[in-house]
Amino acid sequence: MNNKIKKIIKKKSKSKIICLTAYSKNIAEIIDNHADIVLVGDSLGSVLYNYDTTRKVTLKMMVEHTKSVRMGVKKSLLVIDLPYNTYRNKSEALKNSKKVIKETKCDAVKIEGGVKVKEIVRHLVKNKIPVLGHIGVTPQTVKGKFKSKGKTELEKKQLIKDAVSLEQNGAFGIVLECVYTDIAKKITNQIKIPTIGIGASVNCDGQVLVTDDVVGLTNAKIKFVKKYTNIRKVINSAVSKFKQEVKSKKYPTKKYSY
Ligand code: KIV
Repeated sequence: MNNKIKKIIKKKSKSKIICLTAYSKNIAEIIDNHADIVLVGDSLGSVLYNYDTTRKVTLKMMVEHTKSVRMGVKKSLLVIDLPYNTYRNKSEALKNSKKVIKETKCDAVKIEGGVKVKEIVRHLVKNKIPVLGHIGVTPQTVKGKFKSKGKTELEKKQLIKDAVSLEQNGAFGIVLECVYTDIAKKITNQIKIPTIGIGASVNCDGQVLVTDDVVGLTNAKIKFVKKYTNIRKVINSAVSKFKQEVKSKKYPTKKYSY
């Protein structure tokens, strides 16, 4: 097993795992100093391309963005989302995982689903492809509005089955998206691999957010999103100063000229 993955697993119940998304090199470089895992998420479909669903994201898009991110990631584990319809069966999943790993030099793939993808997970792991699972709200299969998971007994049971299945089939961790606090806690206590929550309470072994939301590049109004800065304001102010200085011929001075 990859040493970075071993380190991440060891953090379970000891020290929180930090995961953030990146879609390009410059942001990835900054995140790499702070994160254990940099995720090239298919959320890039909505964040960058304004798609109404991640289902429109292609493998080619994921590969190109991950190549860019790879240039900025030196120490964190680099994980790529396999997009919709690229892991419909185990041979397709293996073929596409090998392709993305070869072309991007990423370390692992993330796929959505629990029991339903058990054979795929097992096959990938058997073929030395590290897999990060993703259960709870799984955007590739959601139709309409996202609804948090784990309120009813039926949903709770299913979430536990999904988490246990991912662990038993060799996933090295599980993203829990929009999962109720009590069930996130139960899953985290029940399995030996780390859980990484997004809208799944403080009880998870780590947390992941979309970086564009964290820095205020998007206008996300999602319950679990905390905006830590307003980078739009910063960019707006710099661009406006540039404009003023160009108009008033303050820029470029001699210092900035040949
Ligand atoms: O696509 C994505 O960015 C994700 C994370 C939000 C977990 O799956």
